[in-house]
Amino acid sequence: MADVLVRGGEVLDAGGRRRADVLVADAVVRAVGEGLEAPAGATVLDAGGCVVAPGLVDLHAHLRQPGREETETVETAARAAALGGYTAIVAMPNTEPPLDSAGTAREVLELGRHAAVEVAVAGAITVGRAGERLAPMAELAALGVRLFTDDGTGVQDGALMRRALDYARGLGVTLAQHCEDERLAAGGAMHEGSWSSRLGIPGVPAAAEEAMVARDLALVRLTGARLHFLHLSTAGSVELVRRAKAEGLPVTAEAAPHHLVLTDAAVGGFDPVFRVNPPLRGEADVAAVRAGLADGTIDVVATDHAPHAPETKDVPFAEAPPGMLGLETALAVALSVAPLEQVLALMSWQPAAIAGLADRHGGPVAEGRPANLCVIDPAATWQVDAGRLASRSRNTPYDGWKLTGRVRHTVVAGVPVVVDAEALR
Ligand code: DOR
Repeated sequence: MADVLVRGGEVLDAGGRRRADVLVADAVVRAVGEGLEAPAGATVLDAGGCVVAPGLVDLHAHLRQPGREETETVETAARAAALGGYTAIVAMPNTEPPLDSAGTAREVLELGRHAAVEVAVAGAITVGRAGERLAPMAELAALGVRLFTDDGTGVQDGALMRRALDYARGLGVTLAQHCEDERLAAGGAMHEGSWSSRLGIPGVPAAAEEAMVARDLALVRLTGARLHFLHLSTAGSVELVRRAKAEGLPVTAEAAPHHLVLTDAAVGGFDPVFRVNPPLRGEADVAAVRAGLADGTIDVVATDHAPHAPETKDVPFAEAPPGMLGLETALAVALSVAPLEQVLALMSWQPAAIAGLADRHGGPVAEGRPANLCVIDPAATWQVDAGRLASRSRNTPYDGWKLTGRVRHTVVAGVPVVVDAEALR
């Protein structure tokens, strides 16, 4: 493995900013300081005008393997992630079959070993994600699984969720809830509001999310277990979590990039690329989610990267599967609404801690630490071209958008996997 010198940038981690080169050898940061010499044979990565940061960590990526490899694979998602500045991603368990046993989880972990970034796995909370009986959480935890979720659906049965929280507490793992009351959401394909009335598309009320957030907060209070709220999208949800944190409950929350910059008005052209779950909400909700980022109510921006094949999206809006791509655009989208320091907290060290990956991801950029880094040019502008994404799918809502902030290099376990915005693996 060649040594790597990241030269001429500004290091930015949870400890602040400083001008420094970063020398990497044998997968570890060996030195951080100004004017470092490149050892003979080292790869030199130019970081002039750039920020050298701990790699990003995505808590919420749908890799589609096993089962839907025509839409994405561990390999293609990891490549997209590396291009997006990620050094680790958490694979969601709603594959076919789902990751509800050590066997399937091990298969994805094994595929991840050959991927461009580190692939961690979230286990299902219930067998088959069917919401009826608990998955073998201890067996999955023994494999190193630290996050459990039935994402795609929420655990509807409150008694089962209570039991899952009790087990999670005992195992020292975190549950992550997709908050959606199925009965309240039934039949809905977009946010319930003036746009759904105008378009004649059945709506999902904000209450479908908020009812489950409120129930789960009561269950956290009852059990003392940690809970992470996935992709919060409504003003009411953000306020519930804000109050729960003030009360001292052990909860964390995430928002998806699309809920920061898109509203239900985007559905006006009936383009199924804008169908996502939870749905794009109203302007007041988007403002509230942004306010939640600003005041620390929301801890994480996670992609909810959800690839779908063109033929499945090329149908009437309400028949299309929900989901949007996110890995290659998340950083620049987040930078359009928050400063870089805050974005890195939301996308690197805070998610690394929640995922149980903080021993090797999320920084600090310091001697002796595993070398998982991304080099970001905050001023570079670029245009999203759906046709050129590394993902196997094309369902980005940002096609043609001009974004500011680009990942220049990504180094995973000491190996450059993206150099000058080109993937090497
Ligand atoms: O839009 C979504 N797509 N939301 C989810 O919760 C699941 C995801 C998917 O897997 O396609």
